Amino acid sequence: AVCLGVSRSFQLAHTSLGAVIPHNTLKKSCYLSKYRFPVFHETKAVLRMREKFKATKPLEHRDCTGNIFHRDWAIAKLSVRMPDRVMLVKAELNLTTSMLELPATPSFNKTRQQPLAFLTQVQNDLQCWMDTEAPSHKPSEKLSCWLNNLQIARETTNSCLEASAIRHIFEVLNDLRCVAFEEQCS
Ligand SMILES: *[C@@H]1O[C@H](CO)[C@@H](O)[C@H](O)[C@H]1NC(C)=O
Ligand SMILES: *[C@@H]1O[C@H](CO)[C@@H](O)[C@H](O)[C@H]1NC(C)=O
Repeated sequence: AVCLGVSRSFQLAHTSLGAVIPHNTLKKSCYLSKYRFPVFHETKAVLRMREKFKATKPLEHRDCTGNIFHRDWAIAKLSVRMPDRVMLVKAELNLTTSMLELPATPSFNKTRQQPLAFLTQVQNDLQCWMDTEAPSHKPSEKLSCWLNNLQIARETTNSCLEASAIRHIFEVLNDLRCVAFEEQCS
């Protein structure tokens, strides 16, 4: 239930697209295997953004070193049930992008534009995939539990959340690769 509110606007967009675009085209447009191999310029832009963030926003508290995405199980443990994996990465990306969208200096605003555009595109693709392949999927118990914890962490927002999400952004991108590799990620 935690994830259901997430997809509304995309579902609406999908519905109106579906009216004009043949089903095959739509399917192809959210083909996730394109994320198997990171695109060099996108990775570079994310790296640059993360370094800039670290340089301009030093940790305010020593206890901010925690990892908001920490789990004691790997994404591959969600077996090859793609919907669970897709849902997990969608939630991670949702948090990451909302942290990236927080008010920023003009110079960080500039640096974050490309990563934000990329991560938004990925989220759209994941949502499109869910809508096409698994519209009524319910997360497994393991995933539900983790999504709940993430939501609680978000609601008890503190300044560490932003630092944690941005500093660990490559873990999310690794999870995305796992989704893209399907059975081959185990
Ligand atoms: C991200 O999650 C929040 C709630 O946690 C939700 O309101 C929002 O619509 C989500 N955004 C996207 C792009 O899925
Ligand atoms: C951030 O940059 C974008 C594009 O360069 C611009 O449209 C937007 O107004 C800027 N936002 C802020 C808060 O400076």
